[in-house]
Amino acid sequence: MPNLALRVTRRLQRSLRTRGFVGSLAHALDALGAHLRGRAPAHPDAAADDDFDRRFGVDTSGVIPQADLDVDDPSWVHGSAYVATSPIDFAEVLAPFALDPARAAFVDLGCGKGRVLMMAGALPFERVLGVEYSQTLADIARRNLASYRGARRAQSIEVVTGDASAFAYPEGDLVVFMYHPFDEVVMQRVVDALRRRQRTSPHRLLVLYFKPVHAALWQAADFVETRFESSRYSVYEAAPVT
Ligand SMILES: C[S@@+](CC[C@H](N)C(=O)[O-])C[C@H]1O[C@@H](n2cnc3c(N)ncnc32)[C@H](O)[C@@H]1O
Repeated sequence: MPNLALRVTRRLQRSLRTRGFVGSLAHALDALGAHLRGRAPAHPDAAADDDFDRRFGVDTSGVIPQADLDVDDPSWVHGSAYVATSPIDFAEVLAPFALDPARAAFVDLGCGKGRVLMMAGALPFERVLGVEYSQTLADIARRNLASYRGARRAQSIEVVTGDASAFAYPEGDLVVFMYHPFDEVVMQRVVDALRRRQRTSPHRLLVLYFKPVHAALWQAADFVETRFESSRYSVYEAAPVT
């Protein structure tokens, strides 16, 4: 983890980029107020997080600001804080889509500590892959996968350390999962990479996007159709190949 001075500088740098000067000031005042009232900002699903970790013997809970992570690449400023997807949300997003997991790979772009990989790994996917550019989080994800006590039906589960926008997707049907991992700059690169893949290797593609802050980029993408949209998550699908 970077030292305190560097973390403060990086938090400021990122806040100015995402909130602007006035927004950063308002956010700082809010945080100070909460601190003075003795209320540490907590993840809204903190109880469900702890429950998941206790049941399965892993460490996936907590919120880690991007500025506190160990990403040296200048692209870190485009990344979101680490926070894990709630198990209830995950079950809901996959339920209505009749895809055959045995013929598909599941990829979590920005997999953090790997909770989604464990949940997807309970389904019989051909492959489950997580991409994470923080070495620390990627290592925690690998340890979690080794100690996870839950069901595992996927044929393989792996964590790749690297930038999600440069990831080389496997061949075949694909489910791409994202929980608001990055800003519009990196999201546009991801949309472009998947468009290129879809042109050269047309297969079934399902994009599950949680906290879809940059849904507009997917709505504008000409190679997918919108299947579902809400403020919690959106689902896009490549037009079926005939
Ligand atoms: C909100 S967390 C989601 C974690 C996990 N997908 C889940 O739902 O439990 C977003 C993660 O994306 C990672 N991230 C952000 N930008 C990235 C990038 N360009 N390449 C790879 N990982 C990235 C962050 O480090 C963080 O761990």
